[in-house]
Amino acid sequence: MSIKVLGTGYYVPPKTLTNDDLAQMVDTSDEWITQRVGVSVRHVSETETASDMAVKAALQAMEQAGVSAEDIDLIISASITPETLCPTVAGWVQKHIGASCPAFDVSSACSGFLFALDTAVSYIVRGKVKNVLVIGAERLSKIVDWTDRNTCVIFGDGAGAAVVTAGDNYLSSLIYTAGGDEVLKIPSHAGNSPFYKNEPDRPYIFMDGQETFKFAVSKIVKDIKEVTEEAGITLGQIDHVVTHQANIRIIDYASKRLGISKEKFFVNIDKYGNTSAASVPMALAELNASGRLKRGDIVALSAFGGGLSSAACIIKW
Ligand code: COA
Repeated sequence: MSIKVLGTGYYVPPKTLTNDDLAQMVDTSDEWITQRVGVSVRHVSETETASDMAVKAALQAMEQAGVSAEDIDLIISASITPETLCPTVAGWVQKHIGASCPAFDVSSACSGFLFALDTAVSYIVRGKVKNVLVIGAERLSKIVDWTDRNTCVIFGDGAGAAVVTAGDNYLSSLIYTAGGDEVLKIPSHAGNSPFYKNEPDRPYIFMDGQETFKFAVSKIVKDIKEVTEEAGITLGQIDHVVTHQANIRIIDYASKRLGISKEKFFVNIDKYGNTSAASVPMALAELNASGRLKRGDIVALSAFGGGLSSAACIIKW
């Protein structure tokens, strides 16, 4: 016994920022961003918090799943940009959808949603709960340095959610961490302690783009091969690949190295940019909404990012 997905949902805030808009803010161009990253436009939140966006994605997933707030037994949310550390994003969602179940966040940057999903599976398999609301939600515009062209052109805001329940469709999974801050780092707020003796950190995303790129390509390939083997299937049997949307060139390399055609990779980075923990559930929900997912299809999910971390799983739709 494992899980099956009952419903998915996603939400992005209304304000859009094009590459030309960004070229007014930093020394960049539409041509560079489109070719090197694959983003044309991203959404940025002016007032909505990560949990506000999470609520909207969650309600959509619940409607599709045909479940009400009383039917939800557990809420797990992944975010590196909660507006408040306490309550958690999941705690805010619980309040706003009117649920009364336990709710908590997990934090593993861009791999966060798949870590949350794997945690949900463990609760369901132990028989502790039946229906779990799993969410990835980010307001990355809050932690982006808008004067740094190396990072500000990449990220966007949004949320994605899925309602999962007991089933037999989670065929295999892995989660991975290699702790360290040399490649990717997001410092937390240092506060105003008069006793603080560390060097103050810039409270923005720091990323060594090329090292992250190499890690991403090698991990997508390795992780998908590993979960495919564990599921007892071949790469050729995969119908859809939903990876973290970080750079279109990462997806191109992964497609070539795995020998899985590009058409099987779902791509929406052009519309939303990199939305970290929201990226995979947003892509899954958008693929689901497109009607291209058929019952019995084999879907490979894969994510990578800060931590460093990565995660992957195989789901039979
Ligand atoms: N606009 C124009 N030029 C830019 C630019 C921008 N926004 N950002 C960087 N450049 C310039 C650099 O200054 C450099 O110029 P130089 O050759 O004169 O020194 C040149 O473009 C190449 O920079 P480089 O950093 O080598 O670019 P890249 O091809 O590696 O692309 C990233 C940079 C960040 C897009 C890419 O490395 C990447 O996507 N990495 C992975 C990110 C990721 O997966 N994140 C997920 C975890 S959050």
